[in-house]
Amino acid sequence: MDAPWWQTAVIYQIYPRSFSDGDGDGVGDLEGVRRRLDHLVWLGVDAIWLSPFFRSPMADFGYDVSDYCDVDPVFGTLDDFDRLLADAHDRGIKVLIDWVPNHSSDQHRWFIESRSSRDDPKRDWYVWRDSAPEGGPPNNWRRNFTGEARWERDPQSGETRRVAVPPDPDADTGAWTWDERTGQWYLHLFLPEQPDLRWDEPAVVDAMHDVLRFWLDRGVDGIRADVIHAIGKDPALPDDTAELAAVPHSSTNDHPRTHELLRDLRRLFDAYPGDRMVVGEVYLLDTAKVAEYYGAGDELHLAFNFPPLYTRWRAESWRRRIEEVAAHLDPVGGWPTWVLSNHDNARHRTRYGTESRARAAALLLLTLRGTPFLYAGEELGLEDAVIPPEAAVDPGGRDGCRAPIPWTTDPGHGWGPEPWLPFPPDAGIRSAAVQQDDPTSMLHLYRRLLAARGGSPGLRLGSMELLPAATGTLVWRRELDGDERVVAVSFSDDVAELDVEGDWLLEVASDRDGSEAGAEAPATIEPDTALLLRHA
Ligand code: NOJ
Repeated sequence: MDAPWWQTAVIYQIYPRSFSDGDGDGVGDLEGVRRRLDHLVWLGVDAIWLSPFFRSPMADFGYDVSDYCDVDPVFGTLDDFDRLLADAHDRGIKVLIDWVPNHSSDQHRWFIESRSSRDDPKRDWYVWRDSAPEGGPPNNWRRNFTGEARWERDPQSGETRRVAVPPDPDADTGAWTWDERTGQWYLHLFLPEQPDLRWDEPAVVDAMHDVLRFWLDRGVDGIRADVIHAIGKDPALPDDTAELAAVPHSSTNDHPRTHELLRDLRRLFDAYPGDRMVVGEVYLLDTAKVAEYYGAGDELHLAFNFPPLYTRWRAESWRRRIEEVAAHLDPVGGWPTWVLSNHDNARHRTRYGTESRARAAALLLLTLRGTPFLYAGEELGLEDAVIPPEAAVDPGGRDGCRAPIPWTTDPGHGWGPEPWLPFPPDAGIRSAAVQQDDPTSMLHLYRRLLAARGGSPGLRLGSMELLPAATGTLVWRRELDGDERVVAVSFSDDVAELDVEGDWLLEVASDRDGSEAGAEAPATIEPDTALLLRHA
């Protein structure tokens, strides 16, 4: 099998603040991650993606970077990073870092210089504009984090769904902040503390490429590129249509300039030995558009595709998503990615509402064609934490999915006395320590699935074909060089018939403890469960 590592890998996202507390101060750090590497080897993941750990005033918890080439003291030092990287590599684990190219922190020296005067040599590193002719900001773009959505539980289906909230009519939701000293506005698609860099300025491209070389020379295996589709902007900065102006501009910005910038980026990566890769956050909620960011194999190696993350637990909805991915990515040779949870959205255990659905979803995620991304804690079946208003810290309302990972059963769960956020529900019984001793646990289910995937070329790289299936279920076949698997997922409240041609044995069942391996495949599938089958 001659495929780059990122096509066969299972990639595990670590939000460093919330993963593991190496120095006991209640905030996770790089040394904490290093100490858990053996656990990750035991689990069976191939690569980790570390959310930002760079110097930052933390207005957006690290997605506001004030020095791209240093580690924030809260997470440790560059030496800690080097140790983590070396120890990960010793164990065969690849490491991706999170590159934040669309905006810096307003405390980055680049922006401090840029805002110091209209004549500053770095003035054009950011997007500065005069007021509109009628006064006020230069255009109607909306910024993020203005209360555009909340998560609500539907008592009927048990699912938790994202519900749009109209902004407070008095709130300023615009993407521009007025700078009194120099008498102009600057653009920020996110917080005012996150000014957008102007990628039409060649010195910005050079500086951000230097940042990448700094980390690639240190040995990182690749990057996750934050809101990458937003870096190229229409220089005329035209108003969004009334319909688009209702959503943050960062979810709609899609300009040809970005594709040129990505081709340059790809050339930088291709010049390095060893299959370094870029996975881009293309937050456009349209798979056809996401496909364009693979270019002709000369832009992103991988692109996140978020529509499945917002898809309800319904067979027909999932069928559409799966078909859509094949329809748009196959023609451009784009290798798919699949993700159910991350640090920006309610966890899928919370969204789907039940443990059995979350277990079935794990089997689905790890058997689709493409590279799966796991979000630390989903393998423990964690739900979002309930955050009392006085403990809320995130401007985007995302604290719940960022609760610290419970490692042990004691009240501190392996963390310093005051963790930065409350723990998720049932932290003791959900802790890694408890689940490691229990073969029926979610943790062991993930481990079995990762092992099954690792042992099957068909699952890792094979073709995928949806087969006829009973209402409320999906059944698909994966195959490579005669290595074949069948996957069945029930989204139904009723027992459904499972009728697959040929003789099949169970390999993994989402509702079992591992002792099912090798048993004859059943003729029916239980509600909200999933089965992985191999040939008899
Ligand atoms: C996307 C990141 O995933 C999110 O956490 C962050 O707030 C925005 N980009 C801005 O960088």
